[in-house]
Amino acid sequence: MLNNIYVAVLHYPMIGKDGKIVTTAVANMDVHDIARTCRTYNVKRYYIVNNLPMQRQIVTRVLNYWRNGFGREYNPSRAEALEVVKLVSYYEDLVEDIANENGVLPLKVFTSAKTRENTISYEKMRKVILSEERPLLILFGTGRGMPLEISETCDFSLEPIRAKSDFNHLSVRSAVAITLDRIIGEDIYQGGK
Ligand SMILES: C[S@@+](CC[C@H](N)C(=O)[O-])C[C@H]1O[C@@H](n2cnc3c(N)ncnc32)[C@H](O)[C@@H]1O
Repeated sequence: MLNNIYVAVLHYPMIGKDGKIVTTAVANMDVHDIARTCRTYNVKRYYIVNNLPMQRQIVTRVLNYWRNGFGREYNPSRAEALEVVKLVSYYEDLVEDIANENGVLPLKVFTSAKTRENTISYEKMRKVILSEERPLLILFGTGRGMPLEISETCDFSLEPIRAKSDFNHLSVRSAVAITLDRIIGEDIYQGGK
């Protein structure tokens, strides 16, 4: 399923500063940076999941500006990268959209700085990608991360990105880039080792 991989950045339901469920704001740089990373790694689509009308308006305006007219002429590669972006309101819409496109539900992968029960290594994830027919959906959070209700719907939880340090709070942009390079970077074309 190397050519059937989807990325989603969720803004709802997210854990807020006080531990309550919130909707987080879309950062403009997330839209552009993650789109470029996804286009670079041949990800089929980058979904932005936000249910707030004002937030959706902002994202739609950014996408329309850079995909058409002066924005496209001024920066064609940015326009090309943004072609992979799709805005949906809810997590359920995201899963349904991929299921409709593929006729089958996607395998869902949770990401977090914390290790969980169904944690899978990057090496095993590469093997799944090379052997599995179903589409793969990799979920990333914002704010203080994705709640249990999302992780419980997932088939796998990818092992955390770690370095030899006592600090582990990657930005979502960095987490997407490192994760994609580890699971569908050049190595995977040498048989996933
Ligand atoms: C918790 S959010 C914080 C985002 C931050 N507020 C921002 O705007 O970039 C970051 C998301 O990136 C991913 N992430 C962060 N650190 C990670 C790590 N060490 N390993 C794997 N994924 C990680 C997870 O999907 C997490 O939900």
